[in-house]
Amino acid sequence: MSKEKLIIFDTTLRDGEQSPGASMTAEEKLRIAKALEKMKVDIIEAGFPISSEGDFLAVQGIAREIKDSVVCGLARAGALDINRAGEALKDANNASRIHTFIATSPLHMRDKLQMTPDQVFDQAVSAVKLARNFTDNVEFSPEDAGRSDLDFLCRVIEAVIKAGATTINIPDTVGYNLPQQYGETIRQLIERIPNSGKAIFSTHCHNDLGMAVANSLAGVMNGARQVECSINGLGERAGNAALEEIVMAVRTRQDMLPCDVHVDSTQIMTCSRLVSGITGFAVQPNKAIVGANAFAHESGIHQDGVLKSRETYEIMRAEDVGLSSNKLVLGKLSGRSAFKDRLETLNISIDSEEELNSAFRRFKDLADKKSEIFDEDIQALVSNFKMEASFAEAIKLISIKACSETGETPQASITLLIDDEEKSASSEGGGLVDATFKAIEKIISSDADLQIYSVSNVTKGTDSLGEVAVRLEKAGRIVNGQGSDTDIVIASAKAYINALNRLLSPSKRIHPQAYEGV
Ligand code: KIV
Ligand code: ZN
Repeated sequence: MSKEKLIIFDTTLRDGEQSPGASMTAEEKLRIAKALEKMKVDIIEAGFPISSEGDFLAVQGIAREIKDSVVCGLARAGALDINRAGEALKDANNASRIHTFIATSPLHMRDKLQMTPDQVFDQAVSAVKLARNFTDNVEFSPEDAGRSDLDFLCRVIEAVIKAGATTINIPDTVGYNLPQQYGETIRQLIERIPNSGKAIFSTHCHNDLGMAVANSLAGVMNGARQVECSINGLGERAGNAALEEIVMAVRTRQDMLPCDVHVDSTQIMTCSRLVSGITGFAVQPNKAIVGANAFAHESGIHQDGVLKSRETYEIMRAEDVGLSSNKLVLGKLSGRSAFKDRLETLNISIDSEEELNSAFRRFKDLADKKSEIFDEDIQALVSNFKMEASFAEAIKLISIKACSETGETPQASITLLIDDEEKSASSEGGGLVDATFKAIEKIISSDADLQIYSVSNVTKGTDSLGEVAVRLEKAGRIVNGQGSDTDIVIASAKAYINALNRLLSPSKRIHPQAYEGV
């Protein structure tokens, strides 16, 4: 007998986007949504339509385009939010869902909402009724459920199910719960609420204590049949439950779990790289499932064991998460059709002949510098190329010259194109990257604070593409920028300029968990 289905609800484009600096353009979100659809994710939470015009358009575009996953929009429990979400989803190609929420913990009701429990109860019920005018697929979340009173939760949830909510999501908003406690909450809610059988219960666990995946699985063991999660665990603060960890834990431990996921796990690596490339959030090497070391066997004892019998030290197969063993792909002499073929194998969609030609030109430039081109190189190359194409860049890099010599102060000279005008500057610095950033700042004077600078190599070897991530902060606004090149000084300049372009583009967003204006 086949097991019950565990619904995978991806919130990379909504809760994930709430990570500082992870905001994405509508085109970037659509690209991720298509990759999630290809992975056969059941539900894609595409955004929070009232938060900005850009997010409204992103949710609308994704809803119009996606055919195989349900597209969901978030709305606080108020008419303005719900009407806006309904509007964004109205031309959905497939089924759509409105996800509405209001906080139920004593702390949030008193200090954030300044509402009584009875007012929260009434607003939750009205919100669900209103959302049902747009779709019969309505999810309700009692925000901060992890610190809410169980009797009050039972009262609210029973009423919202009666009002038409079909999914009840239980957020551990601040990542405070322990697995046994969270599992017990789910079990008690399902047992005590008389009409609980009319809704699917869902988990939404934050990772502040590193417990998000364990808590979600405890929820599943106790009756939840939807897990909210995100690629690479992206999300507010320490993030959400990582989709790849949930999927592989459920697949690998079928002996212990009462249900199964229907996603295509071989798409995991492609999605992980896509999300990290677009957001600039590098994946730590020892990250479960998608980290560079997750399937690498360093120690001699382990290698020996794995060669004799894979199961000695490997509980999953690298192929099942989309890591192909045949990694060497193209070289200098590879032609356009081999390149196109490889893009198809890697599920990288190219929208026009012109785009293919530009991507191929960049591939040839890279092949001149690097003899062996790996899948990761192609992914990084196309990701960067798409990012530049999707973004109105006010500042462009024309050229850079950087010199360092033992005993001399490093120097960099840079020429930028700013609104069709070339501007140049030179600077000294503690190192070449420092001199380069100072030269750029001489031209731009952004006054931004550099919060993060990190370099990682895309593949092995000193001729690898270096991928640089930069985070800038100015007046409370945080942006991330990325750049890649075989020369890390150039990659650094590209990343810094990319971040500046994002910082200079207008952005006004409402945060969903700030409650003004509902
Ligand atoms: O963490 C949270 O409570 C949320 C809600 C909006 C579901 O993200
Ligand atoms: Zn959340």
